[in-house]
Amino acid sequence: MSLTTRDLSPAIGSEVIADAASLLSGSLAAEIKAKLTERGVLLFRDVHFDDEELNAFAASVSPIDNQDEKGNFKVTMDAEINPMALILYGTRAWHMDRLDTALPPLGTLLSPRVLSLEGGETEFANTYAAYEALSDEDKALIEDLEVEHTTANQLRNVELPAGLEQIVDQLGMGTSRIHPLVWRHRSGRKSLVLGWTATRVVGMDPAEGDALIARLIAHAEQPQFTYRHHWRMGDVVMWDNTGTMHRVQPFEQGSKRYLHRVTLAGEEPLVAA
Ligand code: OGA
Ligand code: MN
Repeated sequence: MSLTTRDLSPAIGSEVIADAASLLSGSLAAEIKAKLTERGVLLFRDVHFDDEELNAFAASVSPIDNQDEKGNFKVTMDAEINPMALILYGTRAWHMDRLDTALPPLGTLLSPRVLSLEGGETEFANTYAAYEALSDEDKALIEDLEVEHTTANQLRNVELPAGLEQIVDQLGMGTSRIHPLVWRHRSGRKSLVLGWTATRVVGMDPAEGDALIARLIAHAEQPQFTYRHHWRMGDVVMWDNTGTMHRVQPFEQGSKRYLHRVTLAGEEPLVAA
């Protein structure tokens, strides 16, 4: 069977036009996986998967990562559902998932259970396209650079509600990991490893390093490299966590916004260019 798709923007994102039963049959899985790398983000509309179906669909595309927790991770600020909700403020800053590991997830799937009343769109930037569009001078400048990433740093790059800054200060920086700035994939293609988890460029003057990170993020978040997803019930969105970064747009205080999440196990260790 062949995959029918519709591009959501020129450089990133395609909707896969297929009904729930065809997706669950697994017959499209290989094509979906190939399309994921090619387009960065895939949208499946009106599929209305329950948790079991979401997991089965994800696993048909690529093995599920169980490093997080049992069952589906609950993405919500509702502290009754997720006691770690405050940490999720960090997802408002551009990031790639799990840069605290040596083998970041291949991909992530989200499916809404409750929509926000306003905002709450998820935005994605294609870090292959952003790399390719850099000048030769910039490509040469960053080719061998390494960057330290710390998950907690995302919280220092978003607007926090009053009172939360102190909690963030108490968090400290947590564990960090050094990654190459340019990811040379097995395919031979290169992408940027970027996000507000970045705390410093190894061996560079701190101010210069911070300015470089900010400049590269500003480059990658330009409209021609991004897609902003407006959620509808029944959606599943899957992204290539090795070739995109993402963030959520602010939404109302006290929101019941709630999505279930599944991650696909990493396949490619981050390798320097
Ligand atoms: C995530 C994430 C964004 C969102 O779950 O990894 O970044 O839209 N979520 O909630
Ligand atoms: Mn994320």
